[in-house]
Amino acid sequence: VNYRSASFLTSVPDASLAPGDNGAEVAFAGRSNAGKSSALNALTDQKALARTSKTPGRTQQINFFLLSSGHRLVDLPGYGYAKVPQAMKDKWQRNMAEYLQSRTSLRGLVMLMDCRHPLTEYDQQMLRWCADVDLPVHVLLTKADKLKRGPAANSLLAVRKRLPEFHPHASVQLFSSLKKTGVDEARRMLDSWLTE
Ligand code: GTP
Ligand code: MG
Repeated sequence: VNYRSASFLTSVPDASLAPGDNGAEVAFAGRSNAGKSSALNALTDQKALARTSKTPGRTQQINFFLLSSGHRLVDLPGYGYAKVPQAMKDKWQRNMAEYLQSRTSLRGLVMLMDCRHPLTEYDQQMLRWCADVDLPVHVLLTKADKLKRGPAANSLLAVRKRLPEFHPHASVQLFSSLKKTGVDEARRMLDSWLTE
């Protein structure tokens, strides 16, 4: 799969307006500010395909990107941002649950977690949702450039050990959009989901 070929397809406020549910796609989820949009840019080797921001809550719609192979990459709105009103959080929760449960073309979920604060309550909930609907999950421990090698390796081992509490077969790796570490490993995971 040629990830560099990604181009913007469409942006929708909720799952009911998503493009045709055919072929195969992989979605990116995680806490607000975890680095979802940055990871999408790193994986597609593009500077501004997905909009990134220092302000949490930047991505509020579901953004679809199309690859030359016909596969789609999906940037989901971040969760867990404290300043968002409760009504919007509830709406987000219904939206995501609907998308994860109903989307037949969804082959797997890439979950992004800041390697310094992994497995928050929200992350655990998301992992359980995915386990409930038998959706494979691959965790990217992002911003690995912010930790020295030892602490980064410890974070990886700790998360790998705890994941089975929430999801029976989720995998995990270190990732840095800034240094482009883990890009090939993540692309191999996407390949396995999209082309199996
Ligand atoms: P929302 O759309 O708000 O949910 O956020 P997001 O998860 O898409 O995060 P985004 O990619 O916009 O990144 C948030 C902030 O983290 C930005 O200031 C990025 O520059 C920074 N960031 C993302 N990835 C990395 C990384 O690998 N290393 C470092 N040092 N900073 C990163
Ligand atoms: Mg974003």
